[in-house]
Amino acid sequence: MASWSLLFGLPFLLLTLSLSGSIIQIFGLGVGINYGQIANNLPSPSRVTSLLESLNISRVKLYDADPNVLLAFSNSNVDFIIGLGNEYLADMRDPIKAQNWIQQHVQPHLPQTRITSILVGNEIFKSNDPQLMANLLPAMQTVHNTLVNLGLDKQVTVTTAHSLDILGNSYPPSAGAFSQDLAEYIQPLLDFHSRIDAPFLINAYPYFAYKDNPNQVSLDYVLFRSNQGMTDPGTGLHYDNMLYAQIDAVYTAIKAMGHTDIEVRISETGWPSKGDENETGATPENAGLYNGNLMQRIQQKQGTPAKPLVPIDIHVFALFNENLKPGPTSERNYGLFYPNGTSVYNIGIQGRDPDIVFSAAKKTVRSSMSSLLYLCLQFQIFLVFSLYR
Ligand SMILES: *[C@@H]1O[C@H](CO)[C@@H](O)[C@H](O)[C@H]1NC(C)=O
Ligand SMILES: *[C@@H]1O[C@H](CO)[C@@H](O)[C@H](O)[C@H]1NC(C)=O
Ligand SMILES: *[C@@H]1O[C@H](CO)[C@@H](O)[C@H](O)[C@H]1NC(C)=O
Repeated sequence: MASWSLLFGLPFLLLTLSLSGSIIQIFGLGVGINYGQIANNLPSPSRVTSLLESLNISRVKLYDADPNVLLAFSNSNVDFIIGLGNEYLADMRDPIKAQNWIQQHVQPHLPQTRITSILVGNEIFKSNDPQLMANLLPAMQTVHNTLVNLGLDKQVTVTTAHSLDILGNSYPPSAGAFSQDLAEYIQPLLDFHSRIDAPFLINAYPYFAYKDNPNQVSLDYVLFRSNQGMTDPGTGLHYDNMLYAQIDAVYTAIKAMGHTDIEVRISETGWPSKGDENETGATPENAGLYNGNLMQRIQQKQGTPAKPLVPIDIHVFALFNENLKPGPTSERNYGLFYPNGTSVYNIGIQGRDPDIVFSAAKKTVRSSMSSLLYLCLQFQIFLVFSLYR
């Protein structure tokens, strides 16, 4: 059996070696991935290391500080953002408890596992819990001070991730503003970000905007396909996709609070491959287009219209479908991969003609770059499976 698969695999392997460079580089060029684990059927962390290695993915975000994952990735070249859960925020105001947490969850893994950032709390301002909101900044400050005391603040930064809902206005981007009622929390938070030079992280899902308003929001605009786009009347800048408009709305909101020195990054974005009947647009085709076209933008090191020189910085959500996530069907179907390592859909690199994406494999070799990339992906995925089993 092994020798048969070797025989079959060899030609593919050779093709992979000669063709797949481009697709590996798309991941290699810096896209990160969210490794969520709300599931009871995921492969072991050591198998995940092989999967990510074969895809050349070198940036991973965790929602906790799972020691099994951090251990499995020791001596890998993967940079980790780890999570300090919302349930610990109150405790983290206490310097002793913050130090204990770091000594227990971070220090044992350094430097062999590359932990580059601690994300203190996730979407805290969506919680509607004033105590939690009030704890966020003191917790971040205490964790940062602890890192300073331990001499780790140069290698490990502190930040947090927000839902895009913290904006009271996001359209047009030049009118972006935080919700009025959050200003008292966000102003000192931004001052802190500026002081420690930490990026401002946003979880942004153009899919939500489309799902809520499929008749008004252009699918091409949210999927990075060719479309008219929109021109911001405030700046004259032209937007051809919603994600960039969302990022620039956040820049405007930050600027309105007096800061032009804080980088906005995307800690989560993605598109579900499946949803309930009322979750319009949740299909494998759209998910493949969204993620594939986004990766192409990343490969081109694009910036947004307002920040053309700052390449977008993205962690895609998510690595696996997570079968235990509560909520609508879409919540359990954001993964690029099933737990068995099979990809859920093809990542369509070209968006202009959806037909290409799903039929290119049957066509003979085309000279266009997109088809080449597509074929590379096919071979790449084949290789991943063969190694992975
Ligand atoms: C993998 O990614 C790194 C950057 O993270 C890049 O330098 C390298 O060329 C990539 N490897 C391949 C085979 O594309
Ligand atoms: C969408 O459909 C699901 C399943 O049929 C249902 O449980 C849910 O309440 C619906 N949501 C809305 C907003 O109508
Ligand atoms: C992997 O899991 C998916 C979803 O359950 C299934 O459709 C697919 O056939 C499985 N692939 C293999 C190789 O077992």
